[in-house]
Amino acid sequence: MTTILDGKSIVLGVTGSIAAFKAVDLASKLTQAGASVDVVLTRSAQEFVGVATFTGLTHRPVSTGLYESNSELGIDHVALARRADLILIAPATANVMAKLAHGITDDVLTATILAGSQPLAIAPAMDADMYGAAATQANVATLKERGVHFIGPESGRLASGLVGNGRMTEVPDIIGHIRALLGRDGDMSGRRVVVSAGGTEEAIDPVRVLTNRSTGKMGYAIAEAARDRGAKVTLISAPSSLPRPACVTLLPVSTAIEMRDAVQTASADADLLVMAAAVSDYRPANPAGQKIKKTGEDPLSIDLIQNPDILAGVSGKHLIKVAFAAETNDLIENADAKVLSKGVDMVVANDVSAADSGFGTDTNAVTFVYPGREPEPMPLMDKLDVGNALLDRALPLLK
Ligand code: CTP
Repeated sequence: MTTILDGKSIVLGVTGSIAAFKAVDLASKLTQAGASVDVVLTRSAQEFVGVATFTGLTHRPVSTGLYESNSELGIDHVALARRADLILIAPATANVMAKLAHGITDDVLTATILAGSQPLAIAPAMDADMYGAAATQANVATLKERGVHFIGPESGRLASGLVGNGRMTEVPDIIGHIRALLGRDGDMSGRRVVVSAGGTEEAIDPVRVLTNRSTGKMGYAIAEAARDRGAKVTLISAPSSLPRPACVTLLPVSTAIEMRDAVQTASADADLLVMAAAVSDYRPANPAGQKIKKTGEDPLSIDLIQNPDILAGVSGKHLIKVAFAAETNDLIENADAKVLSKGVDMVVANDVSAADSGFGTDTNAVTFVYPGREPEPMPLMDKLDVGNALLDRALPLLK
């Protein structure tokens, strides 16, 4: 899987909060994603985490918060600041935010930031009272005004044992924000993309539903791919256990009717609609108001009525529509038929019976099917890469 982090240069500032232990995971995940991570530790951060940990994970020299001679490591902080695509402080204390708000540069981290002009993201972590203090809030407001991107903090259990607003955002979510920030001027910048995902649920009775094996992975991957290219993304998701993607508007729905209503509203001013959801074609005609009891007799019948076809009912002046066709047989023939019947610009056909492809897997082997053109089979790819391949083909169609 290749994300926008691949090949990027990121300065990760770590300051003295107990949440500094999470920065270890953050540095590791950013490095694994192909970013070159230059960690800058303040003096107080070193009370919580050590230089050797970060050097080992990032395979790069780590700068400490003192004006010490780093010449043997070849670190020139002004050059570091210039080279970086982004500076991230995680965790950020009230102290570092106060210094940044007032232009105080008494250590390597604050000096690096003052010398740089690239995007700065801050993930605060502190006690709720410190975060809520008038001075901290004034500093946050000043920094936001200057274009600094704040990631969190979140409400929850704090190191003090109290519950409040001051928890550092979790690492996967921070990475989502960073990807969005790095991609904001991408080739889909200014485009509005609507993606549906997951398998809809239709009530049989208050405890049982009619659904399918879709997990939402493909749709969520497309939403993230579009976000990473600068698009404004609305993800309309049937129930899914996947984490909410950062910087994406998530609209949770359950039934096909709810999904239709959400898709119609969101698509009204959208450029692209990708229906990756597995929509239930039928729903119980009369869902029971109470749990259906065993009668001891076979068979039990449930009358089903058809759901509306969401794609066929959506249109927009400039809306490009992409359908998915999950098939177990006659893949291309079935996908070809759907190009016509659904009036779409492209169908992404996938054989859900193939190994490593389809429901619940991290990979997919799809064939892009277009009206009046030869189908284009793709190799087995990670779902994010499938999402990017889909967007590469949809982009030239956008008006
Ligand atoms: N779809 C839709 N509304 C429905 C059913 C499906 O918009 N009520 C969309 C799906 O999100 C997908 C495409 O239509 O993008 C094809 O879905 P699929 O279930 O493969 O096709 P169906 O039209 O339901 O045909 P069949 O189940 O008979 O293959």
